[in-house]
Amino acid sequence: MNIIKISASLLLAAAAFKAEAAEETTLKKVFGPDFLIGAAINENQFSGMDVAGANLVVRQFNCITPENVMKWEVIHPAKDSFNFSPADRYVDFGEKNHLKIIGHTLVWHNQTPAWVFQDADGKPLSREALLERMREHIHTVVGRYKGRIKGWDVVNEALNEDGSLRQSQWMKIIGEDYIEKAFQFAHEADPSAELHYNDYSLENEPKRKGAIALITKLKAKGVPVTAIGSQDHIKLDWPSPELLDATLTDFSKLGVKVMITELDVDLLPSKKKNQTADVTFHEQAQAELNPYAGSLSAEMQKTLAKRYGEVFAVYLKHRDIISRVTFWGVSDGDSWLNDWPIKGRSSYPLLFGRDHKPKPAFSYVVAAEHSRQP
Ligand code: GLA
Repeated sequence: MNIIKISASLLLAAAAFKAEAAEETTLKKVFGPDFLIGAAINENQFSGMDVAGANLVVRQFNCITPENVMKWEVIHPAKDSFNFSPADRYVDFGEKNHLKIIGHTLVWHNQTPAWVFQDADGKPLSREALLERMREHIHTVVGRYKGRIKGWDVVNEALNEDGSLRQSQWMKIIGEDYIEKAFQFAHEADPSAELHYNDYSLENEPKRKGAIALITKLKAKGVPVTAIGSQDHIKLDWPSPELLDATLTDFSKLGVKVMITELDVDLLPSKKKNQTADVTFHEQAQAELNPYAGSLSAEMQKTLAKRYGEVFAVYLKHRDIISRVTFWGVSDGDSWLNDWPIKGRSSYPLLFGRDHKPKPAFSYVVAAEHSRQP
């Protein structure tokens, strides 16, 4: 009798657990009808070291971006050597878990080794030689994952804040057609992959105009650019919902998909007033710039939550043109903002805490679905 009772209660408990698990609110369920919902993931997560992190990715998201392993310095560290194993594991992880897989990033001025732009004597390459090097890199990397990667960030951060083209080595050596060449090479290597132009602080008017002019020009020339990626490394007070809304409205006229590619909300104070997400920008460490070293106050949790709620309400307003929203990291502990622009701060920019539990911001994001336009 006792045994029957115990097993009955065990069964009930198991059923309750199952029901609870089945009812877990997840971003991919909530936003499934609207857009893909993704996260940038790191090597620990996709190679099985961070099991809790990997489980969270698979439960909550339906799309992944590699935080670092496909950047030039990692995947192609020396002229004749490619380092494919981390990227291979990343793609395997995505396929095994039925996630859409993004490639990031082919042509960028950062995290690209100096040798890329130099000949064997350390002298700057000619335009032809650099184009050939770019072609070889893109064909090799994109070609290797042909048919397995849904979309590539082909060119990253080509614009200055005033909307002009950045004088990167790509630009200086090749000239401004380096951008169309990069898209052309990527299209040759995988004709069915979506190809994105990706940049930050596009809400600011001069840079937004520069991006619009760039995409319009590429499209007019028949360059196979299929999406604009707006990184959205944002702050509590920038961009305003109005600015975000106006930007997305402008982008909706471009005739390409719009993707939010690197979302996080930096709530830490800064002495510098700017909206850069330039990885080479650094600030001096000071205790007052690391005010939540122990934990985040309930009040700040709420401030962050409200901010996330208002941002998602704007995204949902534009759900007809936004095809993906990707967070730059999974849990707060994983975020690059713990080390940028100041090393060793405690940052809280994402929806999941260091314990991998949803923060109040998660509930506000989920609640934003009620503002979904029909
Ligand atoms: C840029 C890049 C990303 C990443 C972030 C910060 O936005 O596109 O790859 O480096 O900076 O981590």
